[in-house]
Amino acid sequence: MLRLIAKLHGIGVEETPDYGLDVPKLAKGTAVFGVLSSAVVIAHVVGFISTGMFLTLRSLTDLPLGELIMLTALSVLAILAFLVSGFIFWSSKRGKFHMRDRVIAGLNLRGDEQVLDVGCGNGLLLIGAAQKLTTGTAVGVDIWNENLESHNSQDAVLQNARLAGVANHVEVHNADARELPFEDASFDVVTSSLMLHHLNQADQETAVQQMLRVLKSGGKLVIVEVAFAARLQKLVGELGGTAVQRVPLGLPVYKQIVATK
Ligand SMILES: C[S@@+](CC[C@H](N)C(=O)[O-])C[C@H]1O[C@@H](n2cnc3c(N)ncnc32)[C@H](O)[C@@H]1O
Repeated sequence: MLRLIAKLHGIGVEETPDYGLDVPKLAKGTAVFGVLSSAVVIAHVVGFISTGMFLTLRSLTDLPLGELIMLTALSVLAILAFLVSGFIFWSSKRGKFHMRDRVIAGLNLRGDEQVLDVGCGNGLLLIGAAQKLTTGTAVGVDIWNENLESHNSQDAVLQNARLAGVANHVEVHNADARELPFEDASFDVVTSSLMLHHLNQADQETAVQQMLRVLKSGGKLVIVEVAFAARLQKLVGELGGTAVQRVPLGLPVYKQIVATK
């Protein structure tokens, strides 16, 4: 809005990195569903009120069973839809940034590391890591599925990296997590946030195998997820990760799994 007003007045606004909205169709769909279903419930309530308190009370007690069930179900669904869309919007605009800051702080980067971020989206963790590097490089890979994060692309990451002043420490590749185009033991740190839950169980296994393959011995693997965390933690251990542990981020829903190789 601010940008639009500024544009109409011909005033320039400072550009800042934009890390997009996660699962945009789900976020917007659940928000729209929440609004529409609440509108039906509210319309009923308004209808009752407008026919007078006496009639309202009588209608409430005389409400046909089918209508009562429908209203109750719709109210529950509306609340659920608002919770889902609310979390996605909060996560995309606020929660993810707290998550990034805590994950990056936990990496204790020296500055000379090779860091790989798998499913980097618009570059949130990638650029966060790059900001801690001096001679190292942060490499991001993604298949840029726009249904999973709004306007994600190689260009968007590079633009965000430029705006954050770290373009010289960032590299991006169009690559699938299940087939990482890197030599064994190429990276000191491998991160992946909110990507694995989009894969089926077999593909999650392949992707974690790939992350461990490209990690140097003694390197650190960090996975942040909102789903399947217990299974992923077990999987990392089974595939060769050591000292696999859950490190709390102090945020709702996000789970962090940390391991070494
Ligand atoms: C919800 S976004 C998260 C992006 C970023 N990691 C973050 O935390 O903001 C999920 C990302 O995973 C990417 N992705 C999904 N499947 C992938 C795969 N098989 N290989 C690489 N990236 C994938 C999507 O294109 C999308 O950019």
